[in-house]
Amino acid sequence: MRLAFELSGESKSIPRAEVLAIFRGVVVREVERVLVMDVEIYDQTLGNRLAMTHTVIEVKNVCEQRLASIYQAAQSIELPRVSVAVRAKRIGHGLRSVDVEATIGKALAERGYEIDLAHPQLLVRALLSEDVCIIGKTLTMIDRSRFESRRPRLRPYFYPGVLLPRIARAAVNLTGINPNALLFDPFCGTGGLLLEAGLIGATVVGSDIDSRMVFGTKMNLDYYDVESALLVQDAQRLALRDECVDAVTTDLPYGRSVSIRARSLNQLTVTALDEILRVLKCGARAVLIAHNPIEREISDAGFTIEERHAQYVHKSLTREIVVVRK
Ligand SMILES: C[S@@+](CC[C@H](N)C(=O)[O-])C[C@H]1O[C@@H](n2cnc3c(N)ncnc32)[C@H](O)[C@@H]1O
Repeated sequence: MRLAFELSGESKSIPRAEVLAIFRGVVVREVERVLVMDVEIYDQTLGNRLAMTHTVIEVKNVCEQRLASIYQAAQSIELPRVSVAVRAKRIGHGLRSVDVEATIGKALAERGYEIDLAHPQLLVRALLSEDVCIIGKTLTMIDRSRFESRRPRLRPYFYPGVLLPRIARAAVNLTGINPNALLFDPFCGTGGLLLEAGLIGATVVGSDIDSRMVFGTKMNLDYYDVESALLVQDAQRLALRDECVDAVTTDLPYGRSVSIRARSLNQLTVTALDEILRVLKCGARAVLIAHNPIEREISDAGFTIEERHAQYVHKSLTREIVVVRK
């Protein structure tokens, strides 16, 4: 089946990479902020995991972004005989959403579909991007407000400068982890990454050298009913067996905001990367979040760099998110 993912505009590359990390399929088309993919089946649970997608639709027709073409396309789309409403989303320049909604609605009404704007059984969605209009049946509307409800300040244990839930969830998804697999964060801080991993059903193990942070992580995970195994330990000497974890996601310490418990930041990064490589299973992915370039250290450790993303936070902070494989 053919799906279109309506990607968020908060980052140039992360929303696309997040979809590709968790959906197996073939990309058939890409226009601004829309990724069209063929997949064998659509797993709703996977759709609901996404942090940086607005909607997932099953594509019914793709046409030129002109009202006459859209009207014609809507005359031939196959939909179940239930009540429908039409929502259009314009990405960038193009037709007005209201005009597109009226055009598709008219074509469907003429074909005998019941239009119910208040309580439709099916939501038809039109994505207007570049020169095309992609029309489809809405499969998932991602409720991004649920991430807001887990903002760091709303958790029982708060520490400034931590990752926001949406970026934490995307970082977890970038590992491609399956539910029940084991995800490890050796610099867990207040547990933001473990929380998002736990909520998608992963088994989470975290550690930090600072016992207050481990205690804070425990409070935060308990609050959201996420079970975990937590340790106070130095990321340079992990008390974990070789090749025992399925994925690592971690936000590495950086100079200014946290106390570095090591001879130097570089020493900590180099030694911790060796340890992460050791505990990760062969072929598994790690997502490393850093505040300074660490590609050389990553390659020297023996990882293969698969992707690099920049996440703009504010004028003086752009995070690097590096996806690596053992
Ligand atoms: C950038 S913070 C992680 C923030 C975390 N992602 C969150 O959302 O709260 C880095 C963490 O590394 C920890 N840390 C510093 N040196 C360490 C070491 N040698 N071993 C393990 N953890 C260390 C700090 O205590 C801090 O909690």
